[in-house]
Amino acid sequence: MFPNRPHGGKLVNRVLEGEAREKWLGRAETLPRVALDSRQLSDVELIAVGAFSPLEGFMGRRDYESILVHERLASGLPWTIPVTLAVTQDQVKQIGRAEEVALTDSQSQVVATLELQEVFQYDREREARCVLLTTSEQHPGVRYLQSLGERCLAGPIYLLRRIDRGPFADHTLDPKETRFLFEHRGWGTIVAFQTRNPVHRAHEYILRCALEIVDGLLLHPLMGETRGEDVPAEVRLRCYLSLMRNYLPVHRAVLSLYPAAMRYAGPREAIFHAIARKNYGCTHFIVGRDHAGVGNFYGPYDAKKKLLEFDPAELGITPIFFDATFYCRRCGQVASEKTCSHGPSDRLILSGTKVRELLRNGQELPVEFTRPEVAEILREAYRGK
Ligand code: ADX
Repeated sequence: MFPNRPHGGKLVNRVLEGEAREKWLGRAETLPRVALDSRQLSDVELIAVGAFSPLEGFMGRRDYESILVHERLASGLPWTIPVTLAVTQDQVKQIGRAEEVALTDSQSQVVATLELQEVFQYDREREARCVLLTTSEQHPGVRYLQSLGERCLAGPIYLLRRIDRGPFADHTLDPKETRFLFEHRGWGTIVAFQTRNPVHRAHEYILRCALEIVDGLLLHPLMGETRGEDVPAEVRLRCYLSLMRNYLPVHRAVLSLYPAAMRYAGPREAIFHAIARKNYGCTHFIVGRDHAGVGNFYGPYDAKKKLLEFDPAELGITPIFFDATFYCRRCGQVASEKTCSHGPSDRLILSGTKVRELLRNGQELPVEFTRPEVAEILREAYRGK
């Protein structure tokens, strides 16, 4: 059975092409408009290409409620993150009785249509509590929620225009393309690696360990909206390409960019990330220390605990867990709590904040921490900042 079956059994395709697309583009000109923000643009595209299968559009109240309380869609299928389209009360008034809405990008270009089946009110603070496990304004996801309107538009969508991804487009494969590729390469087991950082040696160690037990690797960095402090996407792309060129076995690894926005929802987002990668055809998914976490909002192994709450057969993708990895000076290599017997004083551990500080001060990243080729790209990017 390869590649893996999509979540819910069928890969969704809501991308309109040819005559149907032309017809809808014409019709969209007459519809009320809603401008999407960067996260919503990512969501609409990911729904359309099937990365969020079985979702066919922005979800309605039944699914929303079920997710908040049971971590499942109303159908019972595991699902942990609401994918909703929030608008203001004024926007709802403008839409009036329209049955369809045109969704636009920030340049007012129509990208999709929404068949408006439902408008519902929701409680942003409750969503923050259930999904992000905090209502603290220190959390970027809470701040995002606070910026949104208090109603949600729900219904199936059709994508009429692909989102302009500039230089990233050439490196971004849709689920149907990764599936084709995996099949073509004859891979029966494929592990996906989610990341929002340059791949440092601790990450690389995890990739290598996983590659020892599966046929192929999908290096699948998230490239949609992230926090301002995270390393910019174009810099990360250069780091990934360098790692692929210089260190990873290209016959067993594929780099493709994942155009999703980060939610920083820790444990719940780990499930969401895993399900999306199942839709890309992967059979295994890496979950390490503080997956999709931010600050100290989640414990280092909360994501692992959350994944273990679900029956693996129901999730349909096998998690591969890793404990914290680090460079150990006494071992002379990257190791983890599981494989190293030495103490904290022998370990080289640099937080994201510390790495950015070193880079901003023009200091070198140690070779034990980052491959020199990657360190050079980062140093260049941060020079003078
Ligand atoms: S994330 O938001 O995409 O999770 P990051 O890019 O830091 O952030 O992590 C990518 C993956 O590697 C996640 O599964 C994370 O848990 C794991 N990871 C990152 N750093 C380490 C580490 N030092 N030890 C173990 N796992 C790690």
